[in-house]
Amino acid sequence: MADKEYTDPERMEKIVSLCKRRGFIYQSAELYGGLNGCWDYGPLGVEVKRNLKEYWWRRNVQEREDIVGLDGSILTHQSVLTASGHVGGFSDPMCDCLLSKARLRADQIEPQSGTAYHYTGARESEWSVARDFAVLLREGENENRARKTARQYYAQFHPNKSLSPKALELVGESTTEEEDTTRYNPENGSLLTEAREFNLMFKTQMGASSSEEDPNAVAYLRPETAQSIFTQFKNVLDTSRMKVPFGIAQIGKAFRNEINPRNFTFRSREFEQMEIEYFCRPEDGLRLTDEWLENRLTFYNDIGLPREKLHVLDVPDGERAHYSKKTYDIEFDFPFGCQELEGVAYRTDYDLSKHQEHSGRPIEYFDEATKEKFIPHVVEPSAGCDRTVLALLCEAFEEEEVTDAKGKSEVRTVMRLHPRMAPIKAAIFPLLKKNEEQVRISREIQHSLERFMNVFYDQTGAVGRRYRRQDEVGTPFCITVDFETLGEENPDLKDTVTLRHRDSMEQERIAISDLLPRLLDEIQ
Ligand code: GAP
Repeated sequence: MADKEYTDPERMEKIVSLCKRRGFIYQSAELYGGLNGCWDYGPLGVEVKRNLKEYWWRRNVQEREDIVGLDGSILTHQSVLTASGHVGGFSDPMCDCLLSKARLRADQIEPQSGTAYHYTGARESEWSVARDFAVLLREGENENRARKTARQYYAQFHPNKSLSPKALELVGESTTEEEDTTRYNPENGSLLTEAREFNLMFKTQMGASSSEEDPNAVAYLRPETAQSIFTQFKNVLDTSRMKVPFGIAQIGKAFRNEINPRNFTFRSREFEQMEIEYFCRPEDGLRLTDEWLENRLTFYNDIGLPREKLHVLDVPDGERAHYSKKTYDIEFDFPFGCQELEGVAYRTDYDLSKHQEHSGRPIEYFDEATKEKFIPHVVEPSAGCDRTVLALLCEAFEEEEVTDAKGKSEVRTVMRLHPRMAPIKAAIFPLLKKNEEQVRISREIQHSLERFMNVFYDQTGAVGRRYRRQDEVGTPFCITVDFETLGEENPDLKDTVTLRHRDSMEQERIAISDLLPRLLDEIQ
Protein backbone atom coordinates (compact mmCIF):
# COMPACT_ATOMS: atom_id res chain seq x y z
CA MET A 1 0.00 0.00 0.00
CA ALA A 2 1.25 3.48 -0.92
CA ASP A 3 2.55 5.71 1.88
CA LYS A 4 0.07 8.61 2.00
CA GLU A 5 2.48 10.71 4.05
CA TYR A 6 5.32 10.41 1.51
CA THR A 7 6.64 13.69 0.13
CA ASP A 8 9.39 14.53 -2.34
CA PRO A 9 10.13 18.29 -2.19
CA GLU A 10 13.12 17.99 -4.54
CA ARG A 11 10.96 16.46 -7.26
CA MET A 12 8.36 19.18 -6.74
CA GLU A 13 11.00 21.88 -7.09
CA LYS A 14 12.12 20.40 -10.40
CA ILE A 15 8.54 20.31 -11.68
CA VAL A 16 7.91 23.95 -10.69
CA SER A 17 11.15 24.96 -12.37
CA LEU A 18 10.33 23.06 -15.58
CA CYS A 19 6.87 24.62 -15.62
CA LYS A 20 8.40 28.07 -15.68
CA ARG A 21 11.34 27.27 -17.97
CA ARG A 22 9.20 25.65 -20.66
CA GLY A 23 6.13 27.86 -20.44
CA PHE A 24 3.56 25.78 -18.60
CA ILE A 25 2.85 27.96 -15.55
CA TYR A 26 4.17 31.31 -14.34
CA GLN A 27 3.57 33.24 -11.13
CA SER A 28 0.97 35.92 -11.76
CA ALA A 29 2.42 39.48 -11.87
CA GLU A 30 5.90 38.06 -11.38
CA LEU A 31 7.25 41.32 -12.82
CA TYR A 32 5.97 43.13 -9.73
CA GLY A 33 7.00 40.57 -7.15
CA GLY A 34 4.06 38.19 -7.72
CA LEU A 35 0.41 38.10 -6.76
CA ASN A 36 0.15 35.48 -4.04
CA GLY A 37 -2.14 32.56 -4.84
CA CYS A 38 -2.60 33.47 -8.51
CA TRP A 39 -1.03 31.79 -11.53
CA ASP A 40 -0.82 32.39 -15.28
CA TYR A 41 -0.74 29.47 -17.70
CA GLY A 42 1.86 29.88 -20.44
CA PRO A 43 1.70 28.68 -24.06
CA LEU A 44 2.04 25.00 -23.12
CA GLY A 45 0.09 25.10 -19.86
CA VAL A 46 -2.94 26.62 -21.55
CA GLU A 47 -2.97 23.74 -24.04
CA VAL A 48 -2.92 21.10 -21.28
CA LYS A 49 -5.71 22.91 -19.46
CA ARG A 50 -7.81 23.19 -22.62
CA ASN A 51 -7.26 19.51 -23.41
CA LEU A 52 -8.44 18.59 -19.94
CA LYS A 53 -11.52 20.82 -20.04
CA GLU A 54 -12.48 19.73 -23.54
CA TYR A 55 -12.10 16.06 -22.69
CA TRP A 56 -14.11 16.46 -19.48
CA TRP A 57 -16.84 18.28 -21.43
CA ARG A 58 -16.87 15.69 -24.17
CA ARG A 59 -17.16 12.79 -21.72
CA ASN A 60 -19.71 14.43 -19.46
CA VAL A 61 -21.83 16.56 -21.77
CA GLN A 62 -21.39 15.64 -25.44
CA GLU A 63 -21.35 11.90 -24.94
CA ARG A 64 -24.25 11.83 -22.47
CA GLU A 65 -27.89 12.46 -23.19
CA ASP A 66 -28.69 13.09 -19.54
CA ILE A 67 -26.33 16.04 -18.94
CA VAL A 68 -26.49 19.56 -20.38
CA GLY A 69 -24.11 22.48 -19.96
CA LEU A 70 -24.24 25.94 -18.41
CA ASP A 71 -21.92 28.93 -18.28
CA GLY A 72 -23.04 31.12 -15.38
CA SER A 73 -21.78 34.55 -14.37
CA ILE A 74 -18.87 34.85 -11.97
CA LEU A 75 -20.29 37.91 -10.23
CA THR A 76 -22.91 36.54 -7.91
CA HIS A 77 -25.93 38.18 -6.27
CA GLN A 78 -25.48 38.28 -2.52
CA SER A 79 -28.92 36.74 -1.97
CA VAL A 80 -27.77 33.60 -3.77
CA LEU A 81 -24.83 33.20 -1.45
CA THR A 82 -26.85 34.14 1.61
CA ALA A 83 -29.35 31.39 0.77
CA SER A 84 -26.59 28.85 0.13
CA GLY A 85 -24.98 29.61 3.51
CA HIS A 86 -21.77 31.04 2.10
CA VAL A 87 -22.24 34.59 3.42
CA GLY A 88 -22.78 33.31 6.94
CA GLY A 89 -20.55 30.31 7.03
CA PHE A 90 -17.98 29.94 4.25
CA SER A 91 -14.99 30.55 6.45
CA ASP A 92 -11.79 29.04 7.76
CA PRO A 93 -10.39 29.56 11.27
CA MET A 94 -7.45 31.93 11.13
CA CYS A 95 -4.86 33.13 13.62
CA ASP A 96 -1.85 35.46 13.50
CA CYS A 97 1.66 35.01 14.82
CA LEU A 98 2.21 37.72 17.47
CA LEU A 99 5.87 37.99 16.52
CA SER A 100 6.12 37.67 12.72
CA LYS A 101 2.48 38.63 11.94
CA ALA A 102 2.26 35.60 9.62
CA ARG A 103 -1.35 34.49 9.10
CA LEU A 104 -2.02 30.79 9.62
CA ARG A 105 -4.97 28.43 9.14
CA ALA A 106 -5.70 27.40 12.73
CA ASP A 107 -6.95 23.96 11.70
CA GLN A 108 -3.75 23.20 9.80
CA ILE A 109 -1.30 23.81 12.63
CA GLU A 110 0.52 20.66 13.69
CA PRO A 111 0.01 19.97 17.41
CA GLN A 112 3.24 20.43 19.38
CA SER A 113 4.42 19.57 22.89
CA GLY A 114 7.01 21.26 25.08
CA THR A 115 7.53 23.92 27.74
CA ALA A 116 5.81 27.28 27.32
CA TYR A 117 7.65 30.32 28.73
CA HIS A 118 5.16 33.02 29.71
CA TYR A 119 5.85 36.71 30.25
CA THR A 120 3.67 39.57 31.42
CA GLY A 121 5.72 42.39 29.92
CA ALA A 122 9.11 44.07 29.56
CA ARG A 123 10.88 47.26 30.66
CA GLU A 124 13.87 49.43 29.79
CA SER A 125 14.87 52.50 31.92
CA GLU A 126 11.68 54.58 32.29
CA TRP A 127 9.79 52.68 29.58
CA SER A 128 7.69 49.55 30.15
CA VAL A 129 5.02 47.51 28.40
CA ALA A 130 2.47 45.17 30.05
CA ARG A 131 1.23 42.50 27.64
CA ASP A 132 1.03 38.74 27.96
CA PHE A 133 3.24 36.77 25.61
CA ALA A 134 4.57 33.22 25.49
CA VAL A 135 7.06 31.09 23.58
CA LEU A 136 6.96 27.32 23.20
CA LEU A 137 10.25 25.45 23.47
CA ARG A 138 10.46 21.86 22.29
CA GLU A 139 12.39 19.33 24.34
CA GLY A 140 16.12 20.05 24.35
CA GLU A 141 15.82 23.71 23.32
CA ASN A 142 17.63 26.27 25.43
CA GLU A 143 15.53 28.59 27.58
CA ASN A 144 17.54 31.56 26.29
CA ARG A 145 15.84 31.08 22.95
CA ALA A 146 12.49 31.75 24.62
CA ARG A 147 13.89 34.92 26.20
CA LYS A 148 15.41 36.10 22.92
CA THR A 149 12.08 35.59 21.11
CA ALA A 150 10.17 37.36 23.89
CA ARG A 151 12.54 40.36 23.77
CA GLN A 152 12.05 40.56 19.98
CA TYR A 153 8.30 40.59 20.56
CA TYR A 154 8.37 43.36 23.21
CA ALA A 155 10.92 45.45 21.27
CA GLN A 156 8.28 46.20 18.61
CA PHE A 157 6.42 48.34 21.19
CA HIS A 158 9.48 50.40 22.18
CA PRO A 159 9.51 53.94 20.76
CA ASN A 160 13.21 53.63 19.87
CA LYS A 161 13.09 51.31 16.86
CA SER A 162 16.86 51.03 16.66
CA LEU A 163 17.17 49.80 20.25
CA SER A 164 18.64 46.31 20.53
CA PRO A 165 16.07 43.84 21.99
CA LYS A 166 18.89 42.68 24.28
CA ALA A 167 18.46 45.92 26.26
CA LEU A 168 15.00 44.85 27.45
CA GLU A 169 14.37 43.27 30.81
CA LEU A 170 11.60 40.65 30.75
CA VAL A 171 8.90 40.71 33.44
CA GLY A 172 6.96 37.88 35.09
CA GLU A 173 8.55 34.76 33.62
CA SER A 174 6.73 31.49 34.41
CA THR A 175 6.46 28.13 32.65
CA THR A 176 3.80 25.52 31.86
CA GLU A 177 4.07 22.10 30.27
CA GLU A 178 2.04 21.86 27.06
CA GLU A 179 0.89 18.78 25.23
CA ASP A 180 -0.44 18.72 21.67
CA THR A 181 -1.07 22.43 21.64
CA THR A 182 -1.84 24.41 18.49
CA ARG A 183 -1.47 27.82 20.17
CA TYR A 184 2.13 28.40 19.00
CA ASN A 185 3.68 29.10 15.60
CA PRO A 186 5.66 25.97 14.59
CA GLU A 187 8.13 28.24 12.72
CA ASN A 188 9.33 30.35 15.66
CA GLY A 189 7.51 29.16 18.82
CA SER A 190 5.69 32.49 19.24
CA LEU A 191 2.21 32.61 20.75
CA LEU A 192 -0.62 32.95 18.21
CA THR A 193 -3.76 35.04 18.50
CA GLU A 194 -7.03 33.23 19.31
CA ALA A 195 -8.50 31.63 16.19
CA ARG A 196 -11.25 33.62 14.50
CA GLU A 197 -13.43 32.90 11.50
CA PHE A 198 -12.34 34.44 8.22
CA ASN A 199 -14.85 34.48 5.32
CA LEU A 200 -13.15 33.23 2.18
CA MET A 201 -15.28 35.07 -0.34
CA PHE A 202 -14.11 38.04 -2.40
CA LYS A 203 -16.65 40.81 -2.02
CA THR A 204 -17.01 43.63 -4.53
CA GLN A 205 -19.20 46.66 -5.30
CA MET A 206 -21.25 46.78 -8.49
CA GLY A 207 -22.27 49.82 -10.50
CA ALA A 208 -20.83 53.31 -10.94
CA SER A 209 -22.70 54.84 -8.03
CA SER A 210 -22.09 51.98 -5.67
CA SER A 211 -21.15 52.86 -2.13
CA GLU A 212 -19.89 50.48 0.50
CA GLU A 213 -23.00 51.09 2.57
CA ASP A 214 -25.44 50.17 -0.20
CA PRO A 215 -26.34 46.49 0.30
CA ASN A 216 -27.86 46.33 -3.19
CA ALA A 217 -24.48 47.12 -4.73
CA VAL A 218 -22.71 44.21 -3.05
CA ALA A 219 -21.75 41.23 -5.17
CA TYR A 220 -19.32 38.36 -4.70
CA LEU A 221 -16.92 36.53 -6.96
CA ARG A 222 -18.40 33.04 -6.85
CA PRO A 223 -16.65 30.63 -4.47
CA GLU A 224 -17.96 27.58 -6.40
CA THR A 225 -19.57 27.23 -9.82
CA ALA A 226 -22.38 25.14 -8.35
CA GLN A 227 -24.66 27.95 -7.18
CA SER A 228 -25.56 29.25 -10.65
CA ILE A 229 -26.54 25.68 -11.55
CA PHE A 230 -28.95 25.60 -8.62
CA THR A 231 -30.38 29.04 -9.30
CA GLN A 232 -30.86 28.23 -13.00
CA PHE A 233 -32.21 24.74 -12.35
CA LYS A 234 -35.79 25.72 -13.14
CA ASN A 235 -34.87 27.61 -16.32
CA VAL A 236 -32.80 24.71 -17.60
CA LEU A 237 -35.58 22.29 -16.75
CA ASP A 238 -38.21 24.36 -18.54
CA THR A 239 -36.12 25.07 -21.62
CA SER A 240 -34.37 21.76 -22.17
CA ARG A 241 -37.20 19.40 -21.14
CA MET A 242 -34.80 17.18 -19.20
CA LYS A 243 -36.24 14.50 -16.95
CA VAL A 244 -34.88 13.44 -13.56
CA PRO A 245 -32.31 11.97 -13.28
CA PHE A 246 -30.33 14.52 -15.25
CA GLY A 247 -27.32 16.72 -14.73
CA ILE A 248 -26.09 20.24 -15.41
CA ALA A 249 -22.38 20.64 -15.99
CA GLN A 250 -20.25 23.72 -15.76
CA ILE A 251 -16.58 24.61 -16.10
CA GLY A 252 -15.47 27.96 -14.79
CA LYS A 253 -13.50 30.12 -12.45
CA ALA A 254 -14.07 30.21 -8.72
CA PHE A 255 -12.43 32.47 -6.16
CA ARG A 256 -11.50 31.96 -2.55
CA ASN A 257 -9.42 34.25 -0.41
CA GLU A 258 -7.39 31.33 0.94
CA ILE A 259 -5.46 32.16 4.11
CA ASN A 260 -2.41 30.15 3.05
CA PRO A 261 -2.22 29.56 -0.69
CA ARG A 262 0.43 26.86 -1.15
CA ASN A 263 1.90 23.94 -3.01
CA PHE A 264 2.21 25.75 -6.34
CA THR A 265 -1.24 25.88 -7.99
CA PHE A 266 -2.75 23.34 -5.60
CA ARG A 267 -4.33 25.87 -3.26
CA SER A 268 -4.89 29.09 -5.21
CA ARG A 269 -7.10 32.10 -4.71
CA GLU A 270 -8.37 31.97 -8.29
CA PHE A 271 -8.94 28.54 -9.80
CA GLU A 272 -11.19 26.64 -12.15
CA GLN A 273 -13.72 24.00 -11.27
CA MET A 274 -15.39 21.34 -13.40
CA GLU A 275 -18.67 20.58 -11.68
CA ILE A 276 -21.76 18.50 -12.33
CA GLU A 277 -24.93 18.78 -10.34
CA TYR A 278 -26.76 15.53 -11.03
CA PHE A 279 -30.44 15.83 -10.00
CA CYS A 280 -32.24 12.68 -8.94
CA ARG A 281 -35.03 11.19 -6.88
CA PRO A 282 -34.25 11.13 -3.12
CA GLU A 283 -34.08 7.36 -2.96
CA ASP A 284 -31.38 7.26 -5.67
CA GLY A 285 -28.97 9.75 -4.06
CA LEU A 286 -26.65 7.37 -2.23
CA ARG A 287 -26.50 4.83 -5.06
CA LEU A 288 -25.69 7.53 -7.61
CA THR A 289 -22.97 8.94 -5.35
CA ASP A 290 -21.23 5.54 -5.48
CA GLU A 291 -21.73 5.32 -9.24
CA TRP A 292 -20.29 8.78 -9.81
CA LEU A 293 -17.28 7.91 -7.70
CA GLU A 294 -16.49 4.97 -10.00
CA ASN A 295 -17.16 7.07 -13.09
CA ARG A 296 -14.73 9.73 -11.92
CA LEU A 297 -12.00 7.25 -11.03
CA THR A 298 -12.25 5.84 -14.55
CA PHE A 299 -11.98 9.36 -15.96
CA TYR A 300 -8.72 10.00 -14.12
CA ASN A 301 -7.34 6.74 -15.35
CA ASP A 302 -8.25 7.70 -18.92
CA ILE A 303 -6.23 10.90 -18.72
CA GLY A 304 -3.13 9.21 -17.35
CA LEU A 305 -3.47 9.19 -13.56
CA PRO A 306 -3.00 5.57 -12.51
CA ARG A 307 -5.51 4.00 -10.13
CA GLU A 308 -2.83 3.10 -7.59
CA LYS A 309 -1.98 6.79 -7.10
CA LEU A 310 -5.64 7.69 -6.44
CA HIS A 311 -7.17 7.18 -3.01
CA VAL A 312 -10.77 7.40 -1.94
CA LEU A 313 -11.53 8.99 1.40
CA ASP A 314 -15.02 8.35 2.74
CA VAL A 315 -15.33 11.64 4.64
CA PRO A 316 -16.54 10.82 8.16
CA ASP A 317 -19.56 12.34 9.89
CA GLY A 318 -18.75 15.72 11.36
CA GLU A 319 -16.10 16.50 8.73
CA ARG A 320 -18.39 16.87 5.73
CA ALA A 321 -19.74 20.19 4.45
CA HIS A 322 -22.98 21.23 6.15
CA TYR A 323 -25.05 20.28 3.07
CA SER A 324 -23.67 16.79 2.57
CA LYS A 325 -25.00 13.42 3.66
CA LYS A 326 -22.14 11.52 2.04
CA THR A 327 -18.86 12.70 0.53
CA TYR A 328 -15.99 10.87 -1.09
CA ASP A 329 -12.77 12.77 -1.60
CA ILE A 330 -10.67 11.49 -4.48
CA GLU A 331 -7.08 12.09 -3.46
CA PHE A 332 -3.89 11.89 -5.47
CA ASP A 333 -0.28 11.20 -4.46
CA PHE A 334 1.29 14.59 -5.17
CA PRO A 335 5.00 15.05 -4.41
CA PHE A 336 3.87 17.18 -1.44
CA GLY A 337 1.62 14.44 -0.05
CA CYS A 338 -1.67 12.73 -0.73
CA GLN A 339 -4.19 15.52 -1.32
CA GLU A 340 -7.72 16.11 -2.59
CA LEU A 341 -8.33 16.26 -6.33
CA GLU A 342 -12.11 16.08 -6.38
CA GLY A 343 -15.07 15.75 -4.06
CA VAL A 344 -18.07 13.59 -4.92
CA ALA A 345 -20.80 14.79 -2.59
CA TYR A 346 -24.41 13.88 -2.02
CA ARG A 347 -25.83 17.36 -1.35
CA THR A 348 -29.40 16.08 -0.82
CA ASP A 349 -32.09 18.72 -1.59
CA TYR A 350 -30.29 21.25 0.60
CA ASP A 351 -29.44 23.87 -2.06
CA LEU A 352 -32.66 23.78 -4.09
CA SER A 353 -34.72 23.90 -0.89
CA LYS A 354 -32.76 26.87 0.40
CA HIS A 355 -33.19 28.76 -2.89
CA GLN A 356 -36.90 27.99 -2.94
CA GLU A 357 -37.23 29.21 0.64
CA HIS A 358 -35.18 32.41 0.19
CA SER A 359 -36.51 33.41 -3.24
CA GLY A 360 -40.11 32.50 -2.46
CA ARG A 361 -40.35 30.95 -5.94
CA PRO A 362 -41.26 27.26 -6.49
CA ILE A 363 -38.35 25.13 -7.71
CA GLU A 364 -40.12 21.80 -7.51
CA TYR A 365 -39.99 19.14 -10.16
CA PHE A 366 -43.15 17.50 -11.43
CA ASP A 367 -42.76 13.84 -12.28
CA GLU A 368 -45.10 13.07 -15.19
CA ALA A 369 -44.95 9.34 -14.60
CA THR A 370 -45.85 9.32 -10.90
CA LYS A 371 -47.70 12.69 -10.84
CA GLU A 372 -45.54 13.63 -7.85
CA LYS A 373 -44.05 17.03 -7.08
CA PHE A 374 -40.74 17.08 -5.22
CA ILE A 375 -37.49 18.92 -4.84
CA PRO A 376 -34.84 16.79 -6.51
CA HIS A 377 -31.81 15.64 -4.60
CA VAL A 378 -28.39 16.20 -6.06
CA VAL A 379 -25.10 14.35 -6.42
CA GLU A 380 -22.13 16.57 -7.15
CA PRO A 381 -18.84 15.45 -8.65
CA SER A 382 -16.74 18.60 -8.24
CA ALA A 383 -13.26 18.52 -9.74
CA GLY A 384 -10.52 21.11 -9.64
CA CYS A 385 -9.19 21.83 -13.09
CA ASP A 386 -5.93 23.38 -11.90
CA ARG A 387 -5.36 20.59 -9.39
CA THR A 388 -5.88 18.00 -12.11
CA VAL A 389 -3.43 19.79 -14.42
CA LEU A 390 -0.95 19.82 -11.55
CA ALA A 391 -1.52 16.11 -10.93
CA LEU A 392 -0.96 15.40 -14.64
CA LEU A 393 2.30 17.35 -14.65
CA CYS A 394 3.52 15.71 -11.44
CA GLU A 395 2.68 12.24 -12.69
CA ALA A 396 4.26 12.85 -16.11
CA PHE A 397 7.61 14.21 -14.93
CA GLU A 398 10.52 11.79 -15.19
CA GLU A 399 14.28 11.98 -15.38
CA GLU A 400 15.85 8.88 -16.87
CA GLU A 401 19.38 7.87 -17.70
CA VAL A 402 19.85 7.17 -21.41
CA THR A 403 22.81 6.53 -23.70
CA ASP A 404 23.22 8.86 -26.65
CA ALA A 405 24.30 7.93 -30.19
CA LYS A 406 27.98 8.26 -29.20
CA GLY A 407 27.55 5.89 -26.24
CA LYS A 408 27.63 8.69 -23.66
CA SER A 409 25.10 8.49 -20.87
CA GLU A 410 22.92 11.50 -20.13
CA VAL A 411 19.79 12.37 -18.20
CA ARG A 412 16.68 12.67 -20.37
CA THR A 413 13.87 14.77 -18.89
CA VAL A 414 10.61 13.49 -20.24
CA MET A 415 7.03 14.47 -19.51
CA ARG A 416 5.09 11.27 -20.03
CA LEU A 417 1.75 13.03 -20.51
CA HIS A 418 -1.09 10.97 -21.93
CA PRO A 419 -1.32 11.89 -25.68
CA ARG A 420 -4.85 13.21 -24.96
CA MET A 421 -3.45 15.76 -22.52
CA ALA A 422 -0.12 16.57 -24.21
CA PRO A 423 0.12 20.25 -25.21
CA ILE A 424 1.78 19.47 -28.55
CA LYS A 425 0.62 16.28 -30.19
CA ALA A 426 3.30 16.05 -32.85
CA ALA A 427 6.47 17.93 -33.77
CA ILE A 428 7.50 18.00 -37.41
CA PHE A 429 11.14 18.25 -38.45
CA PRO A 430 12.91 18.40 -41.79
CA LEU A 431 16.16 16.49 -41.26
CA LEU A 432 18.08 19.33 -42.93
CA LYS A 433 16.77 22.85 -42.92
CA LYS A 434 18.77 23.64 -46.06
CA ASN A 435 17.01 20.93 -48.06
CA GLU A 436 14.14 22.82 -49.71
CA GLU A 437 12.18 19.68 -50.57
CA GLN A 438 12.34 18.37 -46.98
CA VAL A 439 11.22 21.77 -45.68
CA ARG A 440 8.37 21.95 -48.21
CA ILE A 441 7.06 18.47 -47.30
CA SER A 442 7.42 19.18 -43.57
CA ARG A 443 5.40 22.37 -43.91
CA GLU A 444 2.76 20.47 -45.91
CA ILE A 445 2.48 17.86 -43.14
CA GLN A 446 2.26 20.64 -40.54
CA HIS A 447 -0.60 22.33 -42.39
CA SER A 448 -2.47 19.07 -42.95
CA LEU A 449 -2.37 18.23 -39.23
CA GLU A 450 -2.83 21.62 -37.60
CA ARG A 451 -6.55 21.78 -38.38
CA PHE A 452 -7.02 18.75 -36.14
CA MET A 453 -4.46 19.16 -33.37
CA ASN A 454 -1.74 21.37 -31.95
CA VAL A 455 1.51 20.64 -33.79
CA PHE A 456 4.93 22.29 -33.81
CA TYR A 457 7.43 22.82 -36.61
CA ASP A 458 11.12 22.89 -35.72
CA GLN A 459 14.13 22.95 -38.03
CA THR A 460 16.86 24.22 -35.72
CA GLY A 461 19.68 22.13 -34.25
CA ALA A 462 20.54 18.45 -34.52
CA VAL A 463 17.56 16.11 -34.67
CA GLY A 464 18.61 14.48 -31.37
CA ARG A 465 18.41 17.84 -29.60
CA ARG A 466 15.05 18.56 -31.20
CA TYR A 467 13.75 15.23 -29.83
CA ARG A 468 14.99 16.12 -26.33
CA ARG A 469 13.28 19.50 -26.43
CA GLN A 470 10.01 17.80 -27.30
CA ASP A 471 10.48 15.07 -24.67
CA GLU A 472 10.76 17.74 -22.02
CA VAL A 473 7.35 19.18 -22.88
CA GLY A 474 5.65 15.84 -23.37
CA THR A 475 5.18 15.72 -27.17
CA PRO A 476 4.22 12.09 -27.79
CA PHE A 477 5.22 11.97 -31.47
CA CYS A 478 7.97 13.46 -33.63
CA ILE A 479 7.77 13.24 -37.40
CA THR A 480 10.99 13.56 -39.38
CA VAL A 481 11.13 14.18 -43.10
CA ASP A 482 14.46 12.85 -44.42
CA PHE A 483 16.16 11.78 -47.63
CA GLU A 484 14.15 8.57 -47.74
CA THR A 485 10.95 10.65 -47.80
CA LEU A 486 12.18 12.05 -51.11
CA GLY A 487 12.68 8.54 -52.44
CA GLU A 488 16.30 9.25 -53.29
CA GLU A 489 17.78 6.06 -51.84
CA ASN A 490 14.89 3.65 -51.99
CA PRO A 491 11.85 4.48 -54.16
CA ASP A 492 9.69 2.22 -51.91
CA LEU A 493 10.17 4.67 -49.05
CA LYS A 494 9.09 7.73 -51.04
CA ASP A 495 6.43 9.74 -49.18
CA THR A 496 7.13 8.01 -45.89
CA VAL A 497 8.50 9.63 -42.73
CA THR A 498 9.88 8.44 -39.42
CA LEU A 499 7.45 8.54 -36.53
CA ARG A 500 9.35 8.64 -33.25
CA HIS A 501 7.62 7.66 -30.02
CA ARG A 502 8.43 9.75 -26.94
CA ASP A 503 8.20 7.04 -24.28
CA SER A 504 10.04 4.17 -25.96
CA MET A 505 12.14 6.44 -28.24
CA GLU A 506 11.46 3.86 -30.95
CA GLN A 507 11.06 4.95 -34.53
CA GLU A 508 8.92 3.50 -37.25
CA ARG A 509 8.45 4.28 -40.93
CA ILE A 510 4.97 5.44 -41.85
CA ALA A 511 3.32 6.74 -45.04
CA ILE A 512 2.51 10.45 -44.89
CA SER A 513 -1.08 9.63 -45.86
CA ASP A 514 -1.42 7.41 -42.73
CA LEU A 515 -0.24 10.08 -40.30
CA LEU A 516 -3.53 11.84 -39.64
CA PRO A 517 -5.70 8.76 -38.90
CA ARG A 518 -2.91 7.26 -36.83
CA LEU A 519 -2.42 10.36 -34.68
CA LEU A 520 -6.15 11.00 -34.29
CA ASP A 521 -6.54 7.48 -33.04
CA GLU A 522 -3.87 8.05 -30.38
CA ILE A 523 -5.01 11.45 -29.12
CA GLN A 524 -8.79 11.16 -29.00
N1 GAP B 1 -19.12 22.76 -5.17
C1 GAP B 1 -18.42 22.00 -4.21
C2 GAP B 1 -17.10 22.53 -3.91
O1 GAP B 1 -16.74 23.61 -4.33
P1 GAP B 1 -14.85 21.95 -2.74
O2 GAP B 1 -14.37 20.65 -2.18
O3 GAP B 1 -14.73 23.15 -1.92
O4 GAP B 1 -16.35 21.69 -3.17
C3 GAP B 1 -14.18 21.26 -5.15
O5 GAP B 1 -14.11 22.20 -4.12
C4 GAP B 1 -12.84 21.12 -5.82
O6 GAP B 1 -12.36 22.41 -6.24
C5 GAP B 1 -11.73 20.58 -4.91
O7 GAP B 1 -11.75 19.18 -4.86
C6 GAP B 1 -10.49 21.10 -5.60
O8 GAP B 1 -10.13 20.27 -6.67
C7 GAP B 1 -10.96 22.43 -6.15
N2 GAP B 1 -10.51 23.52 -5.26
C8 GAP B 1 -11.14 23.94 -4.14
N3 GAP B 1 -10.44 24.95 -3.57
C9 GAP B 1 -9.36 25.16 -4.35
C10 GAP B 1 -8.26 26.07 -4.29
N4 GAP B 1 -8.14 26.99 -3.34
N5 GAP B 1 -7.32 26.01 -5.27
C11 GAP B 1 -7.42 25.10 -6.27
N6 GAP B 1 -8.44 24.23 -6.37
C12 GAP B 1 -9.40 24.25 -5.43
